[in-house]
Amino acid sequence: MMHKIYVTRKIPQQGLDLLKRYAEVKIWEGELPPPRDILRKEIREVDGILTLLTDRIDKEILGAAKNLKVIGNYAVGFDNIDIDEATRRGIVVTNTPGVLTETTADLAFALMMAVGRNIVRGDRYVREGNWKTWEPMLLLGMDINEATLGIIGMGRIGQALARRAFGFNMRILYYDEYNIQEAERSFNAKKVSLEELLQVSDYISIHAPLTPSTRNMIGSKEFSMMRKEAILINTSRGLLVDEAALIEALERGTIAGAGLDVFQEEPIGKDHPLCRLPNVVLVPHIGSASYHTRTKMALMAAGSIIETLTGKRPENIVNPEVLA
Ligand code: DGY
Repeated sequence: MMHKIYVTRKIPQQGLDLLKRYAEVKIWEGELPPPRDILRKEIREVDGILTLLTDRIDKEILGAAKNLKVIGNYAVGFDNIDIDEATRRGIVVTNTPGVLTETTADLAFALMMAVGRNIVRGDRYVREGNWKTWEPMLLLGMDINEATLGIIGMGRIGQALARRAFGFNMRILYYDEYNIQEAERSFNAKKVSLEELLQVSDYISIHAPLTPSTRNMIGSKEFSMMRKEAILINTSRGLLVDEAALIEALERGTIAGAGLDVFQEEPIGKDHPLCRLPNVVLVPHIGSASYHTRTKMALMAAGSIIETLTGKRPENIVNPEVLA
């Protein structure tokens, strides 16, 4: 009998084609995530499910699944899934590490440049008809070259950002529980305490996963340690930053600006307090959003579902103890 797989949103066709070669596939065609009652109903009979970070796969949803063997999350982050519960139920969970590293680092770097050099502000200025002449003091920003970049979390994406920063002649500091010798050797990165990183960096970019210990790791105390010129970049998960404290720090001039791809609650609407601040650049969680990368993510998520269902061990398993 053919396996059954549910896909919670349209993903690039190559991923769907791969799944269809091995299984009966049902796709939620809505533009928004499937409502919880639909998710609960659809998960009941399937062997595999391909989920997005917008699907909360918690105890209640997992409790409805009768045959589920694998959850292929179409993201490197998997904080939307109750991993302990999935493990308890013997369900394999996979993610999409590696394939989106460079694309996400590109976006983090683009946000640094956009905020530091007033690119979005400048664009608005021109479009709104404010540009009268070349002015010596118009839209002065912060240099990228020779600035100090503090990277919180020197994993794959942090290192990819360090490589870009090194090419721009930046001084690189990092905070991580491990010593990342490769980054120290290749990019002259220096491991420091979080306090030191916050106190001396011109740009601070967050590249840590969301876990109970990283939740709200940047709050009022941390903002108060930063330089007035500091610019915060976040392309990881919004919940690592206390958003109310960030807004206060931006309003009071405790820090100079922020470039954000992720938010405490997504999506944010046009009335969100962040949208009123001139010194931020906001994008809608598009870190991995390139044609090429999203296709690779689709193939990886689909591939690991198929591998699991055909009795193989997917390389990108998040809870390997399930197969031990
Ligand atoms: C991820 O993969 O975790 C990103 O947030 C979306 O690509």
